[in-house]
Amino acid sequence: MKVCVLGAAGGIGQPLSLLLKLQLPAGSELSLYDVAPFTPGVAVDLSHIPTDVCVTGYVGDDAEAAMKDADIVVIPAGVPRKPGMTRDDLFNVNAGIVKKLIGTGAKVCPNACFAIVTNPVNSTVPIAAEVLNAAGVYDKRKLFGVTTLDVIRSITFVAQTAGKSVDEVKVDVIGGHSGVTILPLLSSVDGVNLSQSEIEALTPRIQEAGTEVVEAKAGAGSATLSMAQAAARFTMSLVSAMNGDSVTECCYVQVGDDTRAFHAQPVVLGKDGVESIPPLPALSDYEQQLLDEMRETLEGNINKGIEFAND
Ligand code: LMR
Repeated sequence: MKVCVLGAAGGIGQPLSLLLKLQLPAGSELSLYDVAPFTPGVAVDLSHIPTDVCVTGYVGDDAEAAMKDADIVVIPAGVPRKPGMTRDDLFNVNAGIVKKLIGTGAKVCPNACFAIVTNPVNSTVPIAAEVLNAAGVYDKRKLFGVTTLDVIRSITFVAQTAGKSVDEVKVDVIGGHSGVTILPLLSSVDGVNLSQSEIEALTPRIQEAGTEVVEAKAGAGSATLSMAQAAARFTMSLVSAMNGDSVTECCYVQVGDDTRAFHAQPVVLGKDGVESIPPLPALSDYEQQLLDEMRETLEGNINKGIEFAND
């Protein structure tokens, strides 16, 4: 298994690479790429940790050597938010970064699973789909927006509210990965009975949790450590699935045949990426209303990505 991290020297990339060095199966190759000149140093640093995962580092304008024949490519590359910014405000810089990296992937690892962390995820994933499609190598089963941070935040906050251990709590989060498009399904958490007022307090907290971190970091960026853990969890689920296990994770994927229909929801992963997408669980009236209300925003984000990719 070759796993490639693009943006590996950054705030998310470094802890993500550490988690993967510690968790990938023995015999895996971890390939790190970044434009930062010290990226090979990050690889050397990690290579001193005694696990049977071989780490290599690449720097330069071109990620080709790093990505060549990768099985999984995880992309946290890009710039983070500052206070007062939305994820969509990152579009102008990050859209071009994702377009270029995916263009390289289309050439040198067209069969890889691509897991995109770079914001705005609601738009960068459709960009990636268009680029792969234009190259004739798009496989909708193998392109993911990583929304796992919304899931792990939901688990944390629900467990705190319900007085449960986090190990007892499982929460599905659907929609997308920004503001109103983040919809945690709090009415159907197994073994937890939240009141409607608790749900109406937790839902916006989860939707704005990224902003909570951006403001707390006061100009020094956005979530890096929790995002690294989220991306590592998703990558390890992909690894398990590609090795034959059936694993369910919420993630942002193309649902059905419509190439504009990207949506986050629980997805069954298998050895070729998305194995199946079960129907959405039953929603409460409140959740259904939020789902209906987010549609326009999500469609706008998707269309913006598609238009950019085809410009
Ligand atoms: C998050 O959810 O923390 C990330 O998407 C980063 C951000 O800008 O909020």
